[in-house]
Amino acid sequence: MNQSKPHQITDPFDTIKHILKVSERLNELKDLDAILDRILEESRLLSNADAGTLFLVKDGELVFEYIQNESFADQRDGIKIYSNQTIPINGLSIVGYVAQEGKPLCIDDAYDLPEGLSCTFNSGFDTRSGYHTKSILTVPIKSSQRKVIGVIQIINAKNDLGEVIPFTKEMEHYLGLFANNASVAIEQGIITREVVLRMVKMAELRDPTETGAHVQRVGAYSAEIYDNWAQTHGIEKAERKRIKDRIRIAAMLHDVGKVGVSDLILKKPGRLSETEFDQIKLHTVHGRNLFTQSTSDLDEMSAEIASNHHEKWDGSGYPGHMKSKNGDVKLGSGKQGSEIPLAARICAVADVYDALCSKRSYKEAWHEDQAVDEIKKASGTEFDPEVVASFLDIQPTINSIREHFNGT
Ligand SMILES: [Fe+2]
Ligand SMILES: [Fe+2]
Repeated sequence: MNQSKPHQITDPFDTIKHILKVSERLNELKDLDAILDRILEESRLLSNADAGTLFLVKDGELVFEYIQNESFADQRDGIKIYSNQTIPINGLSIVGYVAQEGKPLCIDDAYDLPEGLSCTFNSGFDTRSGYHTKSILTVPIKSSQRKVIGVIQIINAKNDLGEVIPFTKEMEHYLGLFANNASVAIEQGIITREVVLRMVKMAELRDPTETGAHVQRVGAYSAEIYDNWAQTHGIEKAERKRIKDRIRIAAMLHDVGKVGVSDLILKKPGRLSETEFDQIKLHTVHGRNLFTQSTSDLDEMSAEIASNHHEKWDGSGYPGHMKSKNGDVKLGSGKQGSEIPLAARICAVADVYDALCSKRSYKEAWHEDQAVDEIKKASGTEFDPEVVASFLDIQPTINSIREHFNGT
């Protein structure tokens, strides 16, 4: 599908074929966030809607996941909402009502709701932003077991002249069909994330600093730093989204190679000998070996990050250009500059920043300003200056990620 143009509904058969094709493409994505972003984008394009929001059901409440709004130039892409704001599932709000009833709701004018409806329209966003919400189509996303797992809400359908019009009955039907197909991809994305977190749990048994919260932050920082870097480097949107899909998961797996390092060394109190420290450095090689058997793009990036996330821009990192002698791997001279894969250069900044902001057995958590200063200082020596520039550019997002995954 051409992602930049809305699909014109002329022939129902054509539209259903189009929905099936888009649903199939969703299954090519691995990361839950990339899947949700694409679902919202396709829902809007399908109905030529100006804005939209996607919610997932978590612990009996609706959690904001993505928001898109064409009318705000800087929000062309889906904005992942790293907030802990939730909406109760009840008849008081439009999305809560749709999740509760499990049925779509089509509203022609948000400021003139049909009589007998228990829910009300929350005009808070309009008041704050100056936006005017008129037509709203809200549909539940149901799992294969017919359970509501989320809600898509799209706002202000537009005609060819750009005027806001009501959503048609036909559109309600098509969006419902798409939401049902999309649920398969969402469930798959949830499973993938759970599998990744279980792998991380195994590494955490060896190294207690590699927690679920730490890796989710490192994954999210890496995805957002990459997105900014790619935009400033003029990377085409489809390519940018493809890489962003992979980097979040691959960065979460940066230290899984620790499962290959002995507990006696990782948990040894006091100073390590040089040979022991070399054993720890080999977690990069063990990590890479976990992913080199497969040829998927995700495995390839996971191998790149696992093996290069301790390399430094100036060549002082490890494991470097390794030598292998009689089956024994030896650390070599550090890789430098763009010799280090971009994804690993990004993950290095994300991982160090998060370690600085976290409490460790040997230090207190640093204040985020101090941690940012430290990253700035190491730009051009430890870190790629362009990656650091992107990291600095998205500080509000970095801060909301840190607050969103606020465990240790
Ligand atoms: Fe590491
Ligand atoms: Fe880490």
